[in-house]
Amino acid sequence: MFFDSHTHLNNESYSEAERGALAAAIEASDVSYVVDVGFDLESSMIAARHAAKYPWCYAAAGFHPHNAKDMDEESLIMIKGIAKKEKVVAIGEIGLDYYRNLSDRQSQKDCFRRQIGIALELEMPIIIHDRDANDDVLCILKEEGVFSKQRTSLFPGAESGEPDARLLLHCFSGSSELARQYLKLGATISIAGPVTYKNARRLEDVVRVVPIERMLIETDAPYLTPEPFRGKPNSSPLVKYTAGKVAEIKGISLEETARITCENAMRFFNIQ
Ligand code: NI
Repeated sequence: MFFDSHTHLNNESYSEAERGALAAAIEASDVSYVVDVGFDLESSMIAARHAAKYPWCYAAAGFHPHNAKDMDEESLIMIKGIAKKEKVVAIGEIGLDYYRNLSDRQSQKDCFRRQIGIALELEMPIIIHDRDANDDVLCILKEEGVFSKQRTSLFPGAESGEPDARLLLHCFSGSSELARQYLKLGATISIAGPVTYKNARRLEDVVRVVPIERMLIETDAPYLTPEPFRGKPNSSPLVKYTAGKVAEIKGISLEETARITCENAMRFFNIQ
């Protein structure tokens, strides 16, 4: 039983037939749940539709920083409407991307802050996309009150009693020092396929630093295919290869890794 905490069945490159085939492959696999994560208005609507259709599918709604320039008042209201639907479990993926800069930085920041506002108002988990923007992402999260007492008191921490800000760093690519900072603030870290790559020493260090109880696993399919399938399209059943690498680094079994990260995800997304 694996929980793929971040996938894109809603990816615009898929035909309906391809989506059906991907869904069938998930049903035939040992993946128990996925979160289909929105990146603009259309993809958020599709994700919510998938969540309504498939018992194993949940959705997140939001504008990716790439698409920040397309977000207006009307689409913001619609994202909020989608977020209130049943089985829509998070606002995301939202954040900043200074690597590709497909939207100008000011609209990325505005879009990010407005959507954090929705998550705070609806008391929902947040899924973060951060690429080459570590400082600004952390600064905005702090300024907007994501780590405030008011928010963390909504989410009673795990057995550890540590604060829980219901904040997920998707496809974490920062340093182990940054991971430590986020853990202290009550964030959860999601590990994706790149941990299986040959040059992943930094990410392996992150996996060592993050307690397994504060970790989720994901594919970000169709992107970031894990080894040994790198170069081919990614899909949720391949999440087990990322789990396998995490298990190896942590020195625990694959089954244990699968079970604990699945429990973590169910708690994080408030799935019964
Ligand atoms: Ni993504």
